[in-house]
Amino acid sequence: MNDEELAAIVQRMTSGCKGILAIDESIATCNSRFAALGIAPSVAMRRAYRDLLVTAPGLHDHIAAVILSDETIGQATADGLPFAEALASRDIVAGIKVDIGLTPFAADGELVTQGLDGLAARLAAYRLQGAQFAKWRAVLCIDDALPTRACIAANAHALARFAALCQEAGVVPVVEPEILMVGDHSLLVCAAVTEHVLRLVFEQLVEQRVSLEAIILKIAMVLPGEDCPQQATPALVAESTLRSLRRAVPAAVGAVAFLSGGQSPLAATERLAAMHDGARPRPWPLTFSFGRALQAPALAHWRGRHDHAASAQAILVHRAACNGAARAGAYNAAIEHDRNPS
Ligand code: 13P
Repeated sequence: MNDEELAAIVQRMTSGCKGILAIDESIATCNSRFAALGIAPSVAMRRAYRDLLVTAPGLHDHIAAVILSDETIGQATADGLPFAEALASRDIVAGIKVDIGLTPFAADGELVTQGLDGLAARLAAYRLQGAQFAKWRAVLCIDDALPTRACIAANAHALARFAALCQEAGVVPVVEPEILMVGDHSLLVCAAVTEHVLRLVFEQLVEQRVSLEAIILKIAMVLPGEDCPQQATPALVAESTLRSLRRAVPAAVGAVAFLSGGQSPLAATERLAAMHDGARPRPWPLTFSFGRALQAPALAHWRGRHDHAASAQAILVHRAACNGAARAGAYNAAIEHDRNPS
């Protein structure tokens, strides 16, 4: 598959007003979210939950792509249809998280992402299972002395190697250098760190000859740390995020997608809406690729109960619709309220 064909998949995933649903939590993360709600941490419950999400009626009206995990891409709907095929049958692009998690980078508590060994073979196998894109998440923390340039560089190098291997395998890379909300840093500090990280990531992507048109950059919005006493309005978050992106992300990049990163579902939608409010310059499609901000209300409602499955699906689709409206510049309190099925 050449770069133009990969760029066409990026367009399918990100143009218009649909978004990307992330359901690629590791088994441990999924189990801990289940445990908090008293749901049994079993393979069967994880399959039932992902089945509910993947088959939600109307999902394809607002969701263009879904990120699966290694466990989930091997699972099937109650009717026996593999999840990737169930998604494809509704014109939703299936993808896969391919990193295998985080390991300490050095003694100061920073992290680097693992999973490059054997990645080419895994990508080929996932592609046969129906994955058209792959995601790799690096995690960076802000503290007085962090992130260090060495840790950013190590993660940027791995992200670029991942992206190059993906494009070689005919799979669109979703390049995700996530800067965590944890801490009491200011919005300005987050903006400066975001720009610094993005510059080093793009230096590596260019050096490793990654086609920028055929990637999706996935990042956190520029936000004050969650413990910062001075929080920011949606308009200020939007202005800061777009300014940092314009300064550090080449216009050639296929698309930019936001993760939700622990924001409440409403806050994530309002901030996404502010980014699409008015004439702020946006050289790339700017979409959502939320995990928690799309799933959390549906999961809390479902709680493992079969008789709650249909209403949980409606709650998921409602959040997807609200975020779609945010992308369209059409989100408001009436849409949030009117369509709310809960
Ligand atoms: P959240 O939106 O819950 O941050 O998850 C998105 C994701 O894919 C993180 O890697």
